[in-house]
Amino acid sequence: MGTQAFFRQVIGAIGEADAHGLVSDKGADVLGGLSGRATVGLLQRLVGLVRDRRSLCYLEIGVFQGLSLLSVAIEHPDFPCFGIDNFSILDPKGENLGIIEDRTRRLHATNAHLINRDYEAALESLDTHIGSRKVAVFFIDGAHDYRSQLMALLLIRPYLAERAVIVVDDANYFDVRQASRDFLVAHPEFKMVFEAYSPGHPANLGRDVLDAHEAGWLNGVNVLVHDAEHVLPTMLPRVEPLARDLYVNEWLVHRHRYAELAPQAMDLAAAAIEGGDTMGPTARLVDAHAGDKAKFGARYPDRNLHCDGLPARRFTDWS
Ligand SMILES: C[S@@+](CC[C@H](N)C(=O)[O-])C[C@H]1O[C@@H](n2cnc3c(N)ncnc32)[C@H](O)[C@@H]1O
Repeated sequence: MGTQAFFRQVIGAIGEADAHGLVSDKGADVLGGLSGRATVGLLQRLVGLVRDRRSLCYLEIGVFQGLSLLSVAIEHPDFPCFGIDNFSILDPKGENLGIIEDRTRRLHATNAHLINRDYEAALESLDTHIGSRKVAVFFIDGAHDYRSQLMALLLIRPYLAERAVIVVDDANYFDVRQASRDFLVAHPEFKMVFEAYSPGHPANLGRDVLDAHEAGWLNGVNVLVHDAEHVLPTMLPRVEPLARDLYVNEWLVHRHRYAELAPQAMDLAAAAIEGGDTMGPTARLVDAHAGDKAKFGARYPDRNLHCDGLPARRFTDWS
């Protein structure tokens, strides 16, 4: 099949997912999670387009309780599916690994493989997990900070199949769109073919609006394809002017003595500014500080560089 025909199939699959959501309700009794039904339906359909079933695979970052990974795996039992998660967030009771294992067993999804690691460590040595396979469909749904989003796109490049499709979830976040855009601008051999957004994060939507977006793309997606022949036009996600200020803030926060306490400090600031109860946020801030008092005490009030032990100068070993 020619490249143009392949891109038409991809765009057709997006249209099908947009209109019909999941391919089937095979996993409905067992699976629940945090991805829109159109998003999961697209992943299922994209894997259905893969011709070479032996040397390619599906890979995702962000398994949570297995909705996206297992939905793809049960729809394509002949196709190897890998999911990376280190269970660092959204798992306060430490039960998600057990839930995935249980669901995998109940669905007989023997082609689904969990990589229980930080995404960066996993991607830096991906061949130890997926062997010589290349990644045909890559789903990014892990940590949504700018750096994690961009690193996921950069680190996967050597492992991508010639006809790879990348689905970036949670593109409602401006950090996520910024990372997609920065990657696309720096790598013109990748093109965005589709973007979809909702009016807010699911946590901030009313039930009726949320229902529609749970059936769709939930918290937004960017879909990218590898386009080495430059067949497709350039299409970039919108980025926000405020991002510039916020990335400068990031530098100011990161060098501060109490950098890691920024989320708790913001909650306290909000309570103080809005005239709310400051006792709870103060207690949480003090608690978080107490947990690492020695570390914070060893720092300067500001302009901490974390440069101890760096060489004064060093040349390459090459001669
Ligand atoms: C939104 S959930 C994924 C939802 C899932 N795709 C679904 O369909 O329900 C995000 C997941 O990313 C994982 N995650 C966050 N940071 C990570 C990291 N640095 N490395 C690996 N996984 C990470 C979290 O543990 C969490 O389970």
